[in-house]
Amino acid sequence: MPLLTIHGPPSTFMPSLLSDLTARLAPLTDTPALDASVLIAHILDKSRTWILAHPELTLSAGQQAQLEESTRRLERGEPLPYVLGHWEFFGMDFNITPDVLIPRPETELLVEKAIAWLQKFKVPRTVADVGTGSGIIAITIAVNIPNARLLATDISPAALQVAQHNARKYHVLDRIEFIACNLLPDPSKIANPETKIDLLCANLPYIPTETLHNLPVYRREPTLALDGGADGLDLFRKLLRLAPAWMAPNSLILLEIESTLGAQTLHLARSTFPHAEICLHKDLSGLDRLLEIGL
Ligand SMILES: C[S@@+](CC[C@H](N)C(=O)[O-])C[C@H]1O[C@@H](n2cnc3c(N)ncnc32)[C@H](O)[C@@H]1O
Repeated sequence: MPLLTIHGPPSTFMPSLLSDLTARLAPLTDTPALDASVLIAHILDKSRTWILAHPELTLSAGQQAQLEESTRRLERGEPLPYVLGHWEFFGMDFNITPDVLIPRPETELLVEKAIAWLQKFKVPRTVADVGTGSGIIAITIAVNIPNARLLATDISPAALQVAQHNARKYHVLDRIEFIACNLLPDPSKIANPETKIDLLCANLPYIPTETLHNLPVYRREPTLALDGGADGLDLFRKLLRLAPAWMAPNSLILLEIESTLGAQTLHLARSTFPHAEICLHKDLSGLDRLLEIGL
């Protein structure tokens, strides 16, 4: 269906353009008006508020073609952030591709706790972000804690490329060591094999396999970023087994969790670290979202 000829030439002006696109996106999303304005703003390389304040705007032929192509991608089921190629997290703009998870606002809770904890120290701390994906956790920490040194790991080399691109964009590439490995690296493979971690952060795949297969997100974002195994806890078990050898004295572990798995992750953490201070934090929706383990 051609987007811009529904009402003839006047639909090229911004209010009609927005309402036509909103109508076309309505079957695809709960927020069609927002998505329409975000997409048009992206194509014009302007802010949403700017395009809403300029009703006289029209699109060039090239921009119209680009809008039509992007709309077709959405109609084929691609998530808007992949069509845009970037997404906002913690007030910053991250490049993303279908190789990485789309940043979620819930993960800001982990980053807030991490930054608040790191701000208490004057001496540089070593932080690990396990399963870094697009790099949002490592990079927001590096930007906000200028003396932090970081390790960022992922099993997906394609994801690490995206993360490195984002680190370069935010001028923190020199402080983050990116490593392709299964959770934590062989110490001999990193710059300083003696490294101990002061803060370990991870937003690992945590959706139980069967649950995932029934979610709309299945096959729209990388399964490698979502599938937590039969009970959702496979990678938590493995990481908690590896962690003791890596953690410095008085260190902290912050793990984002699936909201229904609070009790199980608490139990797992208590059996691995019987003497640690362990608690769960809720997200803005009041759901269990973050496991904190103080060693
Ligand atoms: C839920 S995504 C989180 C990405 C990013 N940290 C974020 O918060 O948006 C999980 C990430 O863990 C990575 N991953 C999955 N299994 C892994 C493993 N065994 N070792 C390291 N990374 C893994 C995936 O490739 C994916 O990038």
